[in-house]
Amino acid sequence: MTQRRESRTQVGIVGAGPAGLVLAKLLDLAGVEAVVLEARDRGYVEARVRAGVLEAPTVELLREMGVAGRLEREGMPHTGISLRFAEAPGAPAQDHRIDFADLVGTGITVYGQQEVVKDLLADRVDDAGLPVEFGVADLALHDVDSDAPSITWTDADGADRVLHCDVIAGCDGFHGVSRPLVAPDIAERVYPFSWLGVLAKAAPTTDELVYAHHDDGFALYSMRSPEVTRLYVQVPNDTDPSDWSDARIWDALHTRLACDGFTINEGEFIEKPSVTPMRSMVASPMRRGRLFLAGDAAHIVPPTGAKGMNLAIADVRVLADAVVRALREGDDAGLAAYSDTCLRRVWRAEHFSWFMTSMLHRFDPATEGGDAFGVGLQRSQLRYTVTSRAAATSLAENYVGLPHGAV
Ligand code: FAD
Ligand code: DHB
Repeated sequence: MTQRRESRTQVGIVGAGPAGLVLAKLLDLAGVEAVVLEARDRGYVEARVRAGVLEAPTVELLREMGVAGRLEREGMPHTGISLRFAEAPGAPAQDHRIDFADLVGTGITVYGQQEVVKDLLADRVDDAGLPVEFGVADLALHDVDSDAPSITWTDADGADRVLHCDVIAGCDGFHGVSRPLVAPDIAERVYPFSWLGVLAKAAPTTDELVYAHHDDGFALYSMRSPEVTRLYVQVPNDTDPSDWSDARIWDALHTRLACDGFTINEGEFIEKPSVTPMRSMVASPMRRGRLFLAGDAAHIVPPTGAKGMNLAIADVRVLADAVVRALREGDDAGLAAYSDTCLRRVWRAEHFSWFMTSMLHRFDPATEGGDAFGVGLQRSQLRYTVTSRAAATSLAENYVGLPHGAV
């Protein structure tokens, strides 16, 4: 058997998504060494189209970290969203703006997740020359209950490697290897629908996102730039995207987003339509020994509240502080509190995402959520949210993101 090539670092980070890369940067700023290990290649990670909404505290943190230059130039600050729905069955839909600036004095920024990832990779790899290993295979974690955990993998050249570290951060997403090893209790809800998402080469016709409740199902109007629109429609679970022709997708969007004076610019799809299942999941605790879960590895939210990436970044802010305290001052109190601290914000975001999802989607009429009573409750909640300042403020403060550490 050939010898594994050995190396050492302070923090081994599995996964180069937003969680892993923000953690690596925060540690670097505090003078703590880390190595990031990523299964995919750089091109894939940079091209993966996902989230688009950055909470105010996320933007503030990226700015403090010195990685928000392009975000400041190209990100689209929004000070509100629209909820679009019909007051009664069969009535025409109307727009109701939730004015974040007025209600909570701040807003969100629309900037693609893959742009955040590109910026962080440029900063770490191209500018600072710090390690991110792409294309790692058969990654495994060892001795996480001891003070000397390690990570083994086969690198892109086929060499067997081992990395010894003080702490391992499992930032490897929902399908990674970290969570099964922690084997925590899982609280879960799977929703009976999915989102079909498209990215169209078409100028957005509004400056803000529109969340539409419609008898045919939910639709979301979003954007990525003055030239690119991002759109989603609710579809049944197990939908094969190839059953949805471009014409069928546009037709559904026109129907579900119909509103007096509103038009949609059509354009060529920049990438193939994708289907995202909707689930809520919380793993607790988010720690086993020296292995700490962060981001989608520890929790999943349905995308309706736009919370996933933001929550991943909030986790690693807590983790970075705790790791720095442990490694620099020998004080493990932050590590001991990590899981409980994060789970408070996680559950707030889980509730908000569930609330938005339940209020806006069409449930099967044969089930509790979709029967006449369920739909009556949805309409009532929508009306209350847009007519009560207290209810609108609650939506606004959750949507723009509660200050880090406030929950
Ligand atoms: P990931 O981004 O999943 O990164 C994990 C990384 O680990 C990946 O690069 C993966 O390749 C790597 N990896 C996995 N296994 C291994 C292994 N064994 N070895 C090495 N590497 C491994 N969130 C928002 O905040 N706002 C939104 O508007 C929003 N909209 C969304 C819309 C859609 C359609 C989708 C799908 C998601 C959306 N999200 C949104 C959620 C958001 O994209 C995720 O929550 C976010 O990517 C989580 O970041 P992460 O770093 O934890 O995980
Ligand atoms: C986007 C995604 C979301 O889940 C959401 O709630 C709002 C916007 C987007 O991809 O633009």
